[in-house]
Amino acid sequence: MKWPEELVNEAEKNMEPYDVEGFVLGSGDEKADIMIVGEAPGENEAVKGRPFIGRAGDELNKHLDYAGLSRNEVYITSVVRSRPYKWVDTNKKGSGGRRKANRKPNQKEIDAHAHLLDYQIAEMDPKIIIALGGVAYQRLTGKKDKMTDVIGQSFQVPVQKKRGTGYELTEKTYTIIPLYHPAAVFYNPRIKDTIWESLDHLKSEIEKNSRRKE
Ligand code: URA
Repeated sequence: MKWPEELVNEAEKNMEPYDVEGFVLGSGDEKADIMIVGEAPGENEAVKGRPFIGRAGDELNKHLDYAGLSRNEVYITSVVRSRPYKWVDTNKKGSGGRRKANRKPNQKEIDAHAHLLDYQIAEMDPKIIIALGGVAYQRLTGKKDKMTDVIGQSFQVPVQKKRGTGYELTEKTYTIIPLYHPAAVFYNPRIKDTIWESLDHLKSEIEKNSRRKE
């Protein structure tokens, strides 16, 4: 994707006050009908500059595979493009060591990179936007639904884009499908069945969408 330099510079400058590192713009097919929006890069992604290449990435690959998709036929991006971190003590007792741990992006960080996602959506004009987890779902729709209430459903809705200090809704509507973030299963293995069911719904939504084009 050709990025206007001033947009990227603005995003990097907006983010300067916060504890984040790295910068990942996205990867995949920019002409794809499906855009996947994650939360923010983790450690591996921040180092390599590519989305979903760590443990969550392996899980995402499994999910895509199940849904009959490969990574090069979708475009993968995220709400925030840098890894938000916090300092935590290492486990070694009395070592005094500290390490960086991932954390969820806060609203200011989401705002700081909002124009990047707005630009990508407008440029790509995807038919389907998969929101991986609550951060992506809320950023896109502005809705505060619980993920358990919306998982795997499809919503024909406008998306939020940044305007001034707040957000407005696009005139256009998109098919938004919220899925659990692939890392969610690491913390809560009980959601496994729901994950596969949501991927079945995704599969049928993709089939419907490709029939519409025939
Ligand atoms: N989580 C995300 O949302 N994106 C990544 O690239 C990795 C983990």
